Amino acid sequence: MKVQYDFRDRVVVVAGGGHGIGAGLCQEVAQAGGRAISADIAPNPTLAAHTDRIQVERLDVGDGPGLQDFLQRIIAEHGHIDSFVQAAAMQPRLLIQEMSAETWLRVMDVNLNSLFYAAQVLIPHMTERRYGSIVTFSSGLATTGWAKASAYATTKAALVALIKSIAKETLPFGVRANIIAPGITDTDLFTGPNSEDEQEFFRVRGGGVGTVDEVVPLLMFLISDASQSLTGALLSRDLIIHPQQA
Ligand SMILES: NC(=O)c1ccc[n+]([C@@H]2O[C@H](COP(=O)([O-])OP(=O)(O)OC[C@H]3O[C@@H](n4cnc5c(N)ncnc54)[C@H](O)[C@@H]3O)[C@@H](O)[C@H]2O)c1
Repeated sequence: MKVQYDFRDRVVVVAGGGHGIGAGLCQEVAQAGGRAISADIAPNPTLAAHTDRIQVERLDVGDGPGLQDFLQRIIAEHGHIDSFVQAAAMQPRLLIQEMSAETWLRVMDVNLNSLFYAAQVLIPHMTERRYGSIVTFSSGLATTGWAKASAYATTKAALVALIKSIAKETLPFGVRANIIAPGITDTDLFTGPNSEDEQEFFRVRGGGVGTVDEVVPLLMFLISDASQSLTGALLSRDLIIHPQQA
């Protein structure tokens, strides 16, 4: 069965949309006729090489006021934002006693506080339009914890509470907020921080390692009208089925 979306006239902002899962989502939104804004601290111009439906922007989501100015500019430029996906994340691997307060706070700013700052702009905009969806990412580490990943795991747990609170505040206005734990996915965020042994653990015993192509359809569902009755949900992909191998 082939699933097709029609994203014509839809504006989707993907923070952390330069690489990995966010980049895959930008490409799929463009493919479906929508406009994707790929905003990343490491912008990826190749995404716009073969399409005018992807706009590449440089953005540091850890700079709250800068993020708010950016969203206001996109609203002014395009008239509206239909969906905002916060995919940007960092995961320094340090023991707690070795982590500087500066590093801890930077992880909080990039992974967690970014959603607070973005929501301050997006909630008034989307509730006024009675339309819009916000999506961000949790992680299995939110409930298991992980040695040397305390800051990352903490933000990924807190994001569940924040997105569910956004969902409660926006529920009367038809605006939606959902969060996905995508499962271990073969991107820089998996291969970068994890040692060879850790990667092997996830591949063999930890539920498996998935691909960007497997996660993007779940995101398309969450930002599309197919999920218009779904809000405050945590979609958790703990075990991975590879459809092409099943
Ligand atoms: N890959 C996995 O195994 C996995 C597992 C669970 C959750 N997640 C979550 O999925 C989301 C997407 O991760 P991914 O796997 O595609 O990783 P990725 O590293 O491929 O992509 C993350 C993107 O965020 C960007 N970024 C980092 N800091 C930024 C900043 N300050 N401002 C703007 N952009 C910034 C990076 O440049 C990169 O393009 C993340 O929120 C991550 O926590 C991933």
